[in-house]
Amino acid sequence: MTENKGFSSNFGAIMAAVGSAVGLGNIWRFPYICGKYGGGAFLIVYLCFVFCIGMVLMMTEFVIGRRSQHTPVAAYPILRPDKKGWRYVGIFGMVTCFLILSLYLVISGWTLNYVVDAASGTLAQLDSSGLELHFKAFSESAVRPIVFLAVFALLTVAVILGGVQKGVEKVSKLMMPILVVLLVVLCVRSVTMPGASAGLDYLFKPDFSKLTGQGVLAALGQALFSLSVGMGVMIVYGSYIPRNDNLLKTSIWITVCDTLIALCAGVAIFPAVFSCGLEPTGGPGLVFKVLPTVFNSMNPSSGFMVGTVFSVIFFVLLSMAALTSAISLLEALVAWGSEYPNRKRSVSAIVLALCVVVLGGLCSMSVGGLSGVKVAGLGLFDLVDKLTAVYLPPLCALLTVAFIGWVMPAADIKDELSNHGTLKVGYFKAFYFLARYVAPLALLLVLVTGIVNG
Ligand code: TRP
Repeated sequence: MTENKGFSSNFGAIMAAVGSAVGLGNIWRFPYICGKYGGGAFLIVYLCFVFCIGMVLMMTEFVIGRRSQHTPVAAYPILRPDKKGWRYVGIFGMVTCFLILSLYLVISGWTLNYVVDAASGTLAQLDSSGLELHFKAFSESAVRPIVFLAVFALLTVAVILGGVQKGVEKVSKLMMPILVVLLVVLCVRSVTMPGASAGLDYLFKPDFSKLTGQGVLAALGQALFSLSVGMGVMIVYGSYIPRNDNLLKTSIWITVCDTLIALCAGVAIFPAVFSCGLEPTGGPGLVFKVLPTVFNSMNPSSGFMVGTVFSVIFFVLLSMAALTSAISLLEALVAWGSEYPNRKRSVSAIVLALCVVVLGGLCSMSVGGLSGVKVAGLGLFDLVDKLTAVYLPPLCALLTVAFIGWVMPAADIKDELSNHGTLKVGYFKAFYFLARYVAPLALLLVLVTGIVNG
């Protein structure tokens, strides 16, 4: 049993899980791939995957976590004591979390640096080619990105040291509502800019000709990443969910909130980008080069710098979203550490964070000074990126859902979902069918295609 009591309430559990789910994936990845693969057409596919596969995986993880009251490594053998080998699936998930976290913190450090650059007025003085150079010089420099990575790691550890209730839950309950308010402010500003409707068209107008096979696979990958499922983080959070919570309802809330926030992020970004006549791009290019140009265009030549205010709001929002996601990844690892006898939570948190900073630091340096060092033909940053974006998550998710569909006794799953028979679970057959056949097949397809396409 982990030494913490778990979340104090259903609301706290939902906010913590939404905090994990809402992150860089929602704000800098979703809007772009949605537009790229056919807007409304992509959205339909994405919603199907989110609710039929992503949410099934989330319920799967909650069932495993709450029933075993443990992290994945111990959970599988507790639920099937005759199949001890499943603990390696748990370890595999934890290793994947570690790799994701290393890269995630590098990018989170960038967002934090941009809060400072926005607030100090540095960004406001640069035109679009200046912003390009600024980003390149910053991300390739040896010291500054690592300092911000370390600061971000420190913030994450500080929350974890507060404990599950007074750290993770409290911070999520505080930050998620603020995030929604900031996002709404940005949305209103974006849609009221001249020519905003082109951005809304890009995001929402269905264009089935752009919806390729690749787009469909991207939709599934994005659904898993965005909901934080497949790696065991939600198993750990599941072990903190109160015993009398309805796991179906909780999962629906989290999934709906995550999806709405991703859509709002799109509305906050693309109308403004199109209004300024800029090209939609994805990832770092969008967030660190294109958006500052948009904000700068709001600044009048003299007087109050409106754009600067919006720019600070945006980067603060991004940093908060990244922080609550990073917390969940580190919390999963720390919870695993504290399952060993005589290992203190605080010591696990600090040691793990140091390891993450070292790997993250090396990833960061591989963009700049260490760019000559290649592993398997890739720089370290690209290698970890490829592993955590293409290969490991679908495999880990496949094994997790296979455990529920094929290994754990159906009666136990039903017992857990129904809170020992006190709730009606009329949906059980549909859930079991999705977990046993649909989700594993879809994940297998993603995995095989990922491997074939390299
Ligand atoms: N869901 C987060 C995002 O959208 C990232 C994340 C947090 C995550 N925890 C995770 C992804 C666990 C996979 C597994 O940015």
